[in-house]
Amino acid sequence: MASVDSTGSSVSGRLRSGDLLHAGLVVALLLGVWSAGGLEVSTGKVSSIEAMNGSTVLLPCTYTSCIGIKNLYFNWHYYDNGTMIKLCEAVIPIEGVEPKVNVYHERVEFVGSSKSNNISILLWNITFEDEGEYICFARNPKEKNRNHSAIYTLIVVDRMKEVDNTLTVIIVSVLGGVIGLVIIIMVIKALVVHFLLKDDEKNKECLVSSSGNDNTENGLSGAKADNKGTPKA
Ligand SMILES: *[C@@H]1O[C@H](CO)[C@@H](O)[C@H](O)[C@H]1NC(C)=O
Ligand SMILES: *[C@@H]1O[C@H](CO)[C@@H](O)[C@H](O)[C@H]1NC(C)=O
Ligand SMILES: *[C@@H]1O[C@H](CO)[C@@H](O)[C@H](O)[C@H]1NC(C)=O
Ligand SMILES: *[C@@H]1O[C@H](CO)[C@@H](O)[C@H](O)[C@H]1NC(C)=O
Ligand SMILES: *[C@@H]1O[C@H](CO)[C@@H](O)[C@H](O)[C@H]1NC(C)=O
Repeated sequence: MASVDSTGSSVSGRLRSGDLLHAGLVVALLLGVWSAGGLEVSTGKVSSIEAMNGSTVLLPCTYTSCIGIKNLYFNWHYYDNGTMIKLCEAVIPIEGVEPKVNVYHERVEFVGSSKSNNISILLWNITFEDEGEYICFARNPKEKNRNHSAIYTLIVVDRMKEVDNTLTVIIVSVLGGVIGLVIIIMVIKALVVHFLLKDDEKNKECLVSSSGNDNTENGLSGAKADNKGTPKA
């Protein structure tokens, strides 16, 4: 029994080790691919922003690299209806050294910092023409110049959007009014039904009283009968 058990377990153990070997190979491959693409750029969890015209927006972008950076090149592009407009570009010589950023747009300001791997920019006084996709691009020569980019979408809204709010308020209040009306109608219906029932009860009472009268009448008739009976008797 014990020998059977041990062989069984050894077989499954061999199977498991085989699986582990495969898993290990897969993990190694993944790690290999991952380390080959060591650099990553990201605009964060949220990939778009809705901002009012005239306001100033932060276009966020950060990079991470497990193998480290050297002469990391980055730029920001604005993708406007098929044409790419370069907003700024720079090279970060090594980690922690602030880049000298060339800015090609009068309302763009570089606000990133190499200390926090931050290559974000500010776009001042936005107009409706600024709406669109902003691409944060980075290339690390350390990893065979692979390109990395992240897209951030800017949506410009009018201050008049508050009208939409009043519209929703109106819709909500109308809906509330309708619901209130329905409730009032239901209450009235319930009251009417209640009074009708009361009337029915009154009618029943009338019937009962009338039947009582009937009874008394019967009684009377009975008495009469009795009376009639008594003289008979
Ligand atoms: C935003 O746009 C509206 C309509 O185009 C304009 O009336 C308003 O002045 C603009 N606001 C700013 C701050 O530019
Ligand atoms: C670009 O904008 C023009 C008008 O400004 C429009 O006619 C054209 O269709 C647009 N192209 C694309 C690819 O959206
Ligand atoms: C943004 O607009 C304000 C007020 O109109 C102006 O003082 C400021 O210089 C503008 N900033 C840029 C970067 O254009
Ligand atoms: C990047 O820097 C800007 C400006 O200092 C800051 O507002 C933003 O939060 C930073 N982003 C991250 C992810 O640290
Ligand atoms: C990286 O982007 C540049 C343009 O900035 C392009 O010339 C190059 O072919 C791209 N490389 C790869 C591997 O996609």
